[in-house]
Amino acid sequence: MAHKITLLPGDGIGPEVVQATVKVLEATGVSLDWEVFDKTGTDALEEFGTPLPDVILDSIRRNKVALKGPITTPVGGGFKSVNVTLRQRLDLFANVRPCKSLPGIETPFENVDLIIFRENTEGLYSGIENYDERLEIADTIARVTRAGSARIIRFAFEYARREQRSLITLVHKANILKKAGAMFLEIGRDVAPDYPSIDMNDRIIDNMSMQLVMYPERYDCIVTTNLFGDILSDLCAGLVGGLGVVAGANIGENCAVFEAVHGSAPDIAGQNKANPTAVLRSAVMMLRYIGESTAADAIESALQAVYTEGKTLTGDVGGTSSTTEFSAYLADRVASLVRQ
Ligand code: NAI
Ligand code: MG
Repeated sequence: MAHKITLLPGDGIGPEVVQATVKVLEATGVSLDWEVFDKTGTDALEEFGTPLPDVILDSIRRNKVALKGPITTPVGGGFKSVNVTLRQRLDLFANVRPCKSLPGIETPFENVDLIIFRENTEGLYSGIENYDERLEIADTIARVTRAGSARIIRFAFEYARREQRSLITLVHKANILKKAGAMFLEIGRDVAPDYPSIDMNDRIIDNMSMQLVMYPERYDCIVTTNLFGDILSDLCAGLVGGLGVVAGANIGENCAVFEAVHGSAPDIAGQNKANPTAVLRSAVMMLRYIGESTAADAIESALQAVYTEGKTLTGDVGGTSSTTEFSAYLADRVASLVRQ
């Protein structure tokens, strides 16, 4: 039976990298029935008067799984981020972002293998903001709840146990954020003893940023609040070859939306230059989520092979191929692996 999946190509480089990903997914032979919504964000606002029409949320709730390209968010005003709204409305509280070295890309470190667990619905993304015109004071509230903290921390420990990982580093700023930060850390310390096979330590965010660019091999899994997780994700992407290669999953109790860490990259949009690997690796996470692990394995093996070979890669990782050349080459590899 076909898996019915909501597909949001997004904007900017989104449609290019999503199309490339769909091509590679087709090569696996897994039957995927896409429910496509071409218009989100600015495009949807123009046509439907809202950047995130309810039909999209309904589709994801019904299908329980979505694959998503990036969606541009206006800076400093305009509509609220569609990406954040999706995560909050669907209660996709866990943002999982594995940062693992690929062969054939020149990076300062060889064997980086980190997983970031970012709390995905609260913190500084709470949307509780106010600007007092008279006093010229801007407030943005970082709302952290006990329940919200406990569920992401437990999620990280459960995931780490399943994947046989040995260390979780809880990242915070509890020296300064004596309420929100302190509670997050306290909950971590309460939960950790329930998982005797996993060690937990903690780091203050500023130190952690330095540690990660100097000694990434000392770390394994990272659990943190929303904004710190956002920033560390891009930092860790930088350790393994950049935003073109790092995948992500937004997971809730009832559904999941798979998307890359990167945004819509307006600087290279429409040029057939973007690297689809990040969205493709997100799709690999999606295949595992829906139980299609053979297809997921095939794509991962093909990626390893094509990166090791290093002849058909996009510019961001040192190659000269276009998005479509890379994906066509990869799709052929996947197809031949599947036939074996
Ligand atoms: P970005 O992630 O779009 O781009 C940062 C840099 O990385 C750019 O130089 C870009 O060319 C490069 N890059 C990103 N993805 C790449 C890929 N697949 N292949 C090759 N190079 C790639 O971040 P930026 O420029 O800060 O944000 C652009 C827009 O994207 C903003 O409107 C932002 O709000 C939105 N955004 C959306 C996200 C989402 O949909 N989940 C996540 C992050 C940002
Ligand atoms: Mg980000």
